[in-house]
Amino acid sequence: MDMIVRPRRLRTTEQMRKMVRETRVDKASLIYPIFAQDGENIKEPIEAMPGQFRYSVDQLPYILDELAEAGVQNILMFGIPEHKDAVGSQAYAEDGIVQRALMETKKRHPEMVAIADVCMCEYTDHGHCGILHDCYVDNDDTLPMLARIARTQVEAGADVVAPSDMMDGHVTAIRQELDKAGFVNTPIMSYAVKFASAFYGPFRVAADSAPQFGDRKSYQMDFHNRREALKEAMLDVEEGTDFLIVKPAMAYGDLIREVADATDIPIATYSVSGEYSMVKAAAAQGWIDEERIVGEMAVGAFRAGAGMYITYFAKEIAAMIDAGKIG
Ligand code: PBG
Repeated sequence: MDMIVRPRRLRTTEQMRKMVRETRVDKASLIYPIFAQDGENIKEPIEAMPGQFRYSVDQLPYILDELAEAGVQNILMFGIPEHKDAVGSQAYAEDGIVQRALMETKKRHPEMVAIADVCMCEYTDHGHCGILHDCYVDNDDTLPMLARIARTQVEAGADVVAPSDMMDGHVTAIRQELDKAGFVNTPIMSYAVKFASAFYGPFRVAADSAPQFGDRKSYQMDFHNRREALKEAMLDVEEGTDFLIVKPAMAYGDLIREVADATDIPIATYSVSGEYSMVKAAAAQGWIDEERIVGEMAVGAFRAGAGMYITYFAKEIAAMIDAGKIG
């Protein structure tokens, strides 16, 4: 047969395939979300996310040590407070749960990059991500709250703050507050492209943060929109964000690619709770090969253009990289 180009030539052996690989993954790019909860001696399994737990601060060292051992050096901290109120005051309390969890993290593992989620939904009694006026989340009244939350988190030791609220102007508000407090070198990792997504379902149970009425569609993005994703990304870049997050990951690879191509700052993508739970559920039924699926999802995110991958499977992915199963 007269065929000069034969792509299969480059797939003949394992080593050949590895040599020509276009996407490389690295443990340094993995970020693991942690749920810290008020109380003591708590390591509470999250039912809808088998293998994930809510930890009281005294129990955090165990998971942090495990991560360090596995070579996962970056964490994203969420707090679940005992008391909630209309303005989410525990989110910016100096001794709030996320602040204490950050202090413990930096004490135990100063080398880790501790990223703090900046939002109000885990802390408000109504479960929305901002200040409510007549059942509407008021953008501009929420901004100073977010700025204050971010500042207290940085004061507690956060290396990076990650606003996930989707308020307009949040990067500017946080940047000004951090700079005023002298934290000019603390980066902001904004969830610039965050969709109103059913993929967050298990997280909302885990973090007890489901809205008590309505939904988040007046602030999180409509998943039909592609150009709007670029608009959100460019806006946050103009406001001076240091990184961007595209979220969720799995159904949004096209937007990871577009945002990565359109900007010149590092891009993270967040493989969210629903992605994790779907894999776990199908694997528990014996319907899929969990490890291989997780590997494909991770490599898919990096291939799409993400430089960092936020995932509940961080430890497992690190082990796969060590074993040469992906990489
Ligand atoms: C807070 C926040 C959410 C997630 C991260 N930060 C929930 C939401 O927006 O409802 C979801 C993460 C996940 O599903 O793993 N606003």
